[in-house]
Amino acid sequence: MDFFNFRLFFLLASAVVCCSADILKNDKVKGVLGKNVKFNTTFDGSEYLSLSWNFGSVNIVTASKVKVAIANAYTDRVKLNKTTGMMELGPLNAADNGMYQLIIVTQELQTLTGDSELKVLEPVSSVTITSDPPKEAVESNSSVVLTCTAKGSFLKYTWLNNTVPVVADGKRLILNADGNILSVKDVQRWDLRGPIYCRAGNDLEEETSAAFNMTVSYGPEKVVLVQTPTSSVLATGAMVTLACSSVSSPDATYQWMHNGAPMKDTTASITLENVNEKNSGNYTCVAFNAKTKRYIASNMALFTVIEPIKGTTITRVGAATPLIAKDSSIQLTCKAVAGTVASTKWTKDGVDLVVSERVVLSKKMDMLNISMVQREDAGLYKCVLKNAVNSLEGNYTMVVNYGPEGIKMVGPKAVEITDRVEIKCTAESYPVATYSWKLNGTKLEPTTSMFIIEQPSFRDTGTYTCTAHNPLTNGTASSTHTLAVKEEGALDEGLSGGAIAGIIIGVLIALAIVIGVVMHMRKKKDIPSPY
Ligand SMILES: *[C@@H]1O[C@H](CO)[C@@H](O)[C@H](O)[C@H]1NC(C)=O
Ligand SMILES: *[C@@H]1O[C@H](CO)[C@@H](O)[C@H](O)[C@H]1NC(C)=O
Ligand SMILES: *[C@@H]1O[C@H](CO)[C@@H](O)[C@H](O)[C@H]1NC(C)=O
Ligand SMILES: *[C@@H]1O[C@H](CO)[C@@H](O)[C@H](O)[C@H]1NC(C)=O
Ligand SMILES: *[C@@H]1O[C@H](CO)[C@@H](O)[C@H](O)[C@H]1NC(C)=O
Ligand SMILES: *[C@@H]1O[C@H](CO)[C@@H](O)[C@H](O)[C@H]1NC(C)=O
Ligand SMILES: *[C@@H]1O[C@H](CO)[C@@H](O)[C@H](O)[C@H]1NC(C)=O
Ligand SMILES: *[C@@H]1O[C@H](CO)[C@@H](O)[C@H](O)[C@H]1NC(C)=O
Ligand SMILES: *[C@@H]1O[C@H](CO)[C@@H](O)[C@H](O)[C@H]1NC(C)=O
Ligand SMILES: *[C@@H]1O[C@H](CO)[C@@H](O)[C@H](O)[C@H]1NC(C)=O
Repeated sequence: MDFFNFRLFFLLASAVVCCSADILKNDKVKGVLGKNVKFNTTFDGSEYLSLSWNFGSVNIVTASKVKVAIANAYTDRVKLNKTTGMMELGPLNAADNGMYQLIIVTQELQTLTGDSELKVLEPVSSVTITSDPPKEAVESNSSVVLTCTAKGSFLKYTWLNNTVPVVADGKRLILNADGNILSVKDVQRWDLRGPIYCRAGNDLEEETSAAFNMTVSYGPEKVVLVQTPTSSVLATGAMVTLACSSVSSPDATYQWMHNGAPMKDTTASITLENVNEKNSGNYTCVAFNAKTKRYIASNMALFTVIEPIKGTTITRVGAATPLIAKDSSIQLTCKAVAGTVASTKWTKDGVDLVVSERVVLSKKMDMLNISMVQREDAGLYKCVLKNAVNSLEGNYTMVVNYGPEGIKMVGPKAVEITDRVEIKCTAESYPVATYSWKLNGTKLEPTTSMFIIEQPSFRDTGTYTCTAHNPLTNGTASSTHTLAVKEEGALDEGLSGGAIAGIIIGVLIALAIVIGVVMHMRKKKDIPSPY
């Protein structure tokens, strides 16, 4: 036994006697397989006589002031800080599990010991997320179970949603007790876009999985059909576009329905060019998602195709014989060459037509009968045919022939032989009347409405007859007028006031004389005769 060994023995013996403070920081130390571990001490680094580390009963290293002796089995695997006694051991292998002891004998021959148990852990590796179903899920219909697997010892798991820890709510998001299984019930489209990470680790190290995300199919939703133009009535030949959109992943396919029957179109948008009545009706699109297998129908587009009115005309029924007032009847029909008529309106001279007993419209308003036409019936007739897409009018100018009526002659009753004479004859007539003249029944030359005698003679005295004739109505009207032609001056002076007064006085005097004579005669009669 050399001195060194003797001292050691002595110290060990005294250590048993003396109480010892634990000079190791931790009584349990974990290390990772293949990596180094440090046994940290609380030793203050003061001078000591000897320092040794043992693994069980096996000596690892012994140090004195001057020398450090590492056991052969630990060469290259041990580093010792001679000052603090800290030992670094590694790379670790499974056989390193066990109890380690540090013994320091101070110069004061105090023995300090520390014990620590080393656990060699497997390193964390191969952190992987697997999911069930593995690739795709359907929103609201699927549950997704994510399982995190990893190699390593004493692993704990955490889940990250992008950078934020996943918080299990116990209802839709459920974590198992070990924390390595995350169940997502009724998975929603945004749930697993994260990306989601699993982090596995123990006290010493941790590792994060690769990013995981999952496509969650959803929809179709918000299936909206838009009609352009929006009007519910379209003219034949117009163009209309029906566009369908939806929220869906993957994109929806579309099936178009017209009046409940499927169309051949499957595009999101269809254009109907040159529409006709057959295109009228209701339209819907049905969006289909091949993954979710859901069909959703859109709102309905509804329109009617109406043929615009073309070629409105008013035609007269029957022969186009001229109308004669108070005699003729007329029947007019209003028709269009094409188009569906929704309403008909008649006007005369721009004002709504007034019906009466004589002026009758058919129920359908397509026929106008006027019986016993009157002068006032003449004018511009229009019928306005209307439907939801347009309106178009036809017109008819009605001419009513009449007369002559209300014949009148205007002229002087008497003229002097030197006077110019004008006799005017007028009659209301359509078309304009022709005139003929007679004197005392003898036909005269003029055929105008005005009869003019530039230089009358006594032979022009007599009864003038004017006859107006309407060649169309075959109506005639006559009137007479008497004219006296007098010698010059015959009509000139009328009686003056003085003359009239003289005549009156003369008459009165004459009357007085007559009265006087009569009185005288009577007196004579009253006086009794002498006989
Ligand atoms: C020992 O100390 C070092 C540095 O202070 C530290 O990194 C190491 O984790 C400690 N070892 C243990 C087992 O606590
Ligand atoms: C030993 O540890 C002490 C305290 O931590 C440090 O100051 C010193 O540098 C270390 N010595 C060696 C050789 O590593
Ligand atoms: C991840 O975060 C998104 C957005 O914050 C959230 O909508 C989704 O539900 C989260 N997923 C999980 C599994 O927590
Ligand atoms: C995750 O999402 C990104 C983009 O959002 C995409 O490029 C990638 O393919 C996705 N990965 C998986 C596994 O779905
Ligand atoms: C759509 O049109 C079809 C065929 O005309 C009809 O049976 C159905 O009732 C219409 N639907 C609606 C909601 O009007
Ligand atoms: C969704 O769930 C319903 C019943 O809940 C089921 O009938 C349907 O087949 C499911 N759809 C898919 C795509 O799994
Ligand atoms: C118009 O007259 C025709 C022929 O006289 C007749 O057939 C028709 O019914 C009449 N219409 C009306 C609306 O009175
Ligand atoms: C009447 O109709 C014809 C065509 O049918 C048209 O040329 C004419 O201008 C119309 N007249 C009036 C006054 O509307
Ligand atoms: C016409 O008749 C009137 C009266 O009968 C007579 O005075 C006049 O001379 C006649 N005129 C002519 C031209 O015969
Ligand atoms: C015209 O009227 C006259 C008598 O008023 C008659 O004799 C004649 O036949 C009529 N002419 C026509 C074309 O009606």
